[in-house]
Amino acid sequence: MNIQIEDWILQIMSNLTLEEKIGQMIQLEANEKSELLLKKNSIGSILNSEKKALDKFKQVNKLSKDNIPILFAVDAIHGHCFIDGGTVFPTPLTIACSWDPKLVENIGKITAKEMRITGYHWTFAPNLDLARDPRWGRVNETFGEDTHLVGELGSAIIKGLQNYEYPVIACPKHFIAYGESIGGRDSVESEVSERKMRTLFLPVFQRAIDAGANSIMTAYQAMDGIPCTINSKLLKNVLNDEMGFEGIVITDYDNLSRLHTEQYVVDNLYEASIKGFKAGNHVMMATEKFMDHMIRAVGEKRVSITDIDETVKKILRLKFKLNLFNNKIDESFESDLYQLGGVEHRELARKASEESIVLLKNNNDILPLKSRDIKLSVIGPNSVDRVAQLGDWAIRDNYGKKNFEMGSDHNNTYVSVLDGIKSLFSNTYYNKRCDIDVNELYIDEMITIAEKSDIIIAVIGDNNSFNGEISDRASLSLPGKQIEMLKELKKLGKPIIGILINGRPLILNWLDENLEAIIECFNPGLEGGNAIANVISGEVNPSGKLSISFPRHEGQLPIYYNQIPGWHGNSDGTGDYIDITHKPLYQFGFGLSYNDYEYSDLIIKNNKIKKKENLEIQISVKNKGKYNGKEIIQVYYNDIYSSVTTTKIQLVEFRKILLKPNEKKIVKFSIPANRFSLIDKNNERKIEEGEFEIMIGKSSDKMDLLKDIFSIID
Ligand code: NOJ
Repeated sequence: MNIQIEDWILQIMSNLTLEEKIGQMIQLEANEKSELLLKKNSIGSILNSEKKALDKFKQVNKLSKDNIPILFAVDAIHGHCFIDGGTVFPTPLTIACSWDPKLVENIGKITAKEMRITGYHWTFAPNLDLARDPRWGRVNETFGEDTHLVGELGSAIIKGLQNYEYPVIACPKHFIAYGESIGGRDSVESEVSERKMRTLFLPVFQRAIDAGANSIMTAYQAMDGIPCTINSKLLKNVLNDEMGFEGIVITDYDNLSRLHTEQYVVDNLYEASIKGFKAGNHVMMATEKFMDHMIRAVGEKRVSITDIDETVKKILRLKFKLNLFNNKIDESFESDLYQLGGVEHRELARKASEESIVLLKNNNDILPLKSRDIKLSVIGPNSVDRVAQLGDWAIRDNYGKKNFEMGSDHNNTYVSVLDGIKSLFSNTYYNKRCDIDVNELYIDEMITIAEKSDIIIAVIGDNNSFNGEISDRASLSLPGKQIEMLKELKKLGKPIIGILINGRPLILNWLDENLEAIIECFNPGLEGGNAIANVISGEVNPSGKLSISFPRHEGQLPIYYNQIPGWHGNSDGTGDYIDITHKPLYQFGFGLSYNDYEYSDLIIKNNKIKKKENLEIQISVKNKGKYNGKEIIQVYYNDIYSSVTTTKIQLVEFRKILLKPNEKKIVKFSIPANRFSLIDKNNERKIEEGEFEIMIGKSSDKMDLLKDIFSIID
């Protein structure tokens, strides 16, 4: 604790009225109503509002009695996307396929820089939910389905956002198990036992706290009957006392009202406000009436002024941390505005997109394309769909879904898939844009164009009307008439390369059986077109691996790779349906390259380790192909017999390496024994003695993994 800052805070506090103190705890959008509130009392923070409004609010605030700086917050989820000229990086689900923490840290760093040079201080990111049900509309916002991968990438982006020259406040969300809501239905109750919560979900937030996250957002949904936002045991005993979080807790958007109007756990907003505050929330997002209710609650002695003081002190500390009391600080950052969307930022966006592209199929090595003179036809709705390519949280007109009081169009800055391909392949044919419901006229034109080409590039997938909040899906089929369109193309007998732009896993069985090659790009961002062109031309050898599993059928859900065993039916305990395999079409960690990589010589250096020691292992990986390439080596484990049921395969470490043709590298891992721990029947974390299987290879499919055994001893 910095004594001088604490003195300043006390001094500021001594001048504040109760209303002004409560004002610090409120976050609203910048509009006429909030302007009135600002003039009367104060507002601690503003969310998702245009830069013009920010500047106006700063001026109004200057005239207020205390002129406490306002924290300006924004959903900068994959870049500072709501701002004109801001760099739109690939969405989190996409970038997670890069399995590259340093790259993700750099994205955080550039996002923070673009925020500060435009006057924003606080981003509601990263989303650390686990995407274990692709029916859920928000899987695109997450780093995928696995605890370890999400933990690595989540902590990396937090460092990038908070620790460099232009720091902002990160806000990992949604605490907790929000992605686990039943049936993929956004915000409904999630069925999560304490053991499951401690096994899968808390470790990710622990990583975020250890990385220094200064704020955390609570989740809308309830667990075991208690909405997370008013679960004081969760927020105080677990988050504060156990996990050591000392920063700001913020509710989700008007979550206090929802306790009353959607979850029915209180019969009025007054009670909701008291419960929300007492449970441990410090900032109330978008609940304007919180002011009146808190004043009443203090008057009726339902809430103590000391507790309010402690909360306001926390908020002021955060403002000091960003040095906002220095009036010149915002100005000095904003003088760097010329760097918004700069060349280096775009280069990073392109690299991020290239590193995230996953090659799912490549029959007869059709890719990379053998010549720049080859005749290509580029067809399909996503060849020029800006909104689909940029993804959720990026654009003002999100297929009719309005994004708050702000948003950009990125009209002039995005490179479509068509433009990217045209820039490298001069013999490219195309027709005008079609939508996902491809009409007959388009089909006729499309055939004429496709007939001229040697290879058809079909750019397909979904768009933002199928993804995001309030966009859960029961079916994961390729939407609209796209399959019909592909079937017409197939009749021409020419090879078809499918390029997928989509926000979540789709059922791709027909594509897998009928297309020559498939490239999964998810939502690749502004530079997606260039990145895709570089991959098909061979400028870039694809190296991404899936951050989420792809089912063959919705009835297989949940399909995440780390299932608990015990299902009757198969000798390995993984079970099977009588009508369909339990296996995904494409598993977590899967992704091809233009090379083959050969794994050999798994060596465990110390096959008996103590609980404080590290497991030392090594593996040889050889590039058997003819291109330079990157391979993501994945290390999984299985606690063979344990006192409670555990998954038979769990990611514990990974590394991305670069290999030249014919090059062979020995890669060493040193893994602390506590990574092999479990949550026992008393909900305590334990390292159990016994035998463990270690598995290393190129995906989570056991066929792709080399195995050996080690033991943990006392
Ligand atoms: C609601 C979403 O759940 C949350 O993730 C987001 O940050 C807020 N709205 C603010 O936009």
